[in-house]
Amino acid sequence: MNAIHIDPARRVDAIHPHVFGGFAEHLGRCINGGIYDPDHPLADDRGLRSDVRQALMELRMPIMRYPGGNFVSGYRWRDGVGPREARPARHDLAWAALEPNTFGTNEFVDFCRDIGTEPYLVVNCGDGDMREAHDWVEYCNGRDDTALANLRRAHGWERSHDVKYWGLGNEVDGEWQIGAKQPQEYARVCKEFGKVMKWADPSIKLLASATCHWRSDLVERAQLIVEEASDLIDYMSIHWYVGNSLARGQQRDDDFNAYMAISELIEARLSGYAGLMRGLCLAHGLEPIPLAVDEWNVWYRAFRDQALEEHYNLEDALVVALQMNAFIRHADTVKMANLAQIVNVIAPILTSPTGLVRQSIFHPFRLYSQWARGDALDLHWEGETFDGGDYQGVRVLDVAGSLQGSRLGLFIVNRSLESSTVELKLSAGELSDLTCHVVNGPDIKTVNSEAEPELVTVRTATPASATHLELEPHSVTVVTGHLA
Ligand code: AHR
Repeated sequence: MNAIHIDPARRVDAIHPHVFGGFAEHLGRCINGGIYDPDHPLADDRGLRSDVRQALMELRMPIMRYPGGNFVSGYRWRDGVGPREARPARHDLAWAALEPNTFGTNEFVDFCRDIGTEPYLVVNCGDGDMREAHDWVEYCNGRDDTALANLRRAHGWERSHDVKYWGLGNEVDGEWQIGAKQPQEYARVCKEFGKVMKWADPSIKLLASATCHWRSDLVERAQLIVEEASDLIDYMSIHWYVGNSLARGQQRDDDFNAYMAISELIEARLSGYAGLMRGLCLAHGLEPIPLAVDEWNVWYRAFRDQALEEHYNLEDALVVALQMNAFIRHADTVKMANLAQIVNVIAPILTSPTGLVRQSIFHPFRLYSQWARGDALDLHWEGETFDGGDYQGVRVLDVAGSLQGSRLGLFIVNRSLESSTVELKLSAGELSDLTCHVVNGPDIKTVNSEAEPELVTVRTATPASATHLELEPHSVTVVTGHLA
């Protein structure tokens, strides 16, 4: 028997809404042919596909990272502003593609405001310089009578865009990155780029590209960033992608248990990096710098017909839920997370000329961004276990919880191929009005498609008991209700 012990007095911290953010890159059909598709019959007068906008709004992403990704390390923001007919097409070296630059900063900010999300821009720390980064901040946020603010006005945007979040480069520790950086070199970038960007607008928040590689130099990198630029850096950005046995030749595999045990790796990374920040900041008399997992997802490096278009199945949806459970459990350190990406490219939404598909991973994301509100609960749970990959004795259920006022959210991934029973044990109060929102499908390999778009979907039910829940095999259950 499984049990979840709920003590409403035991809280981790407030869940920052930004942990349900997204990321859009100039890559494949994410922007061009996804969000922006002026020739499509469903495009509005700005060229944005209205069906994509609708599906994105269902995901309630409160912050959106842009324009890359690897792309940004060769990007010139000036190429993407001003009259469209005068914008240059360029080779994008990161993805070996042609970038028409018909969608750029102003279109992105408008798109964000349109769907109710906060824009988060990443500057080019690859082949770009600090002048360019500074100028971009001033172009976007300037209010004075300066050449750059006036340039934005001349382009048709009178009011400051007021872009608050700015990333200092992308994955600078990866050798695939244009202008990848040594630890010391990047720490200096944080200091110097950060300095002039905050001089342009002191109200902005900066994210340092801390680690995506998870190699031994991650400690040195974090230490140097803290030593050089802790007064400027507001978040440490970390990235990861996971998949079913990616290590074995980057192919999908049928090692379900190993895949489900990936929660242990996520946990190790988050608690390890949080501890690292606590130690480093303690040594310098600082408050720990929060984490932004500003690229995360399941990714099999699919190229298919178009770049990086993954077709996700049910087990991938479970793993997306496992990652969000970890963000909730680490609400005291993870203050932002961005699902990479949003449309077509490793994405919850896949478009075609005739419509779009909400992929399996769309559903847990939508439920979590709706219901994981207020404080994260410090839950304890116990019960059946399994062995998977390098991990033994992993609990079959993966659990997180939230409480906002009396509104409870429980987020339960059942990693068993059988149904499981769980008892809810309260140390105080009573549960009422429980509803179960269940993400499931016929089989762990089930994939939604245009022909069968709702094989993996959400069903809602009222549980028969307020103390014992029956969890469907291979499912994500979001339990909502009142705890008073
Ligand atoms: O999201 C796809 C790519 O993954 C991004 O461009 C890069 O930052 C990461 O390696």
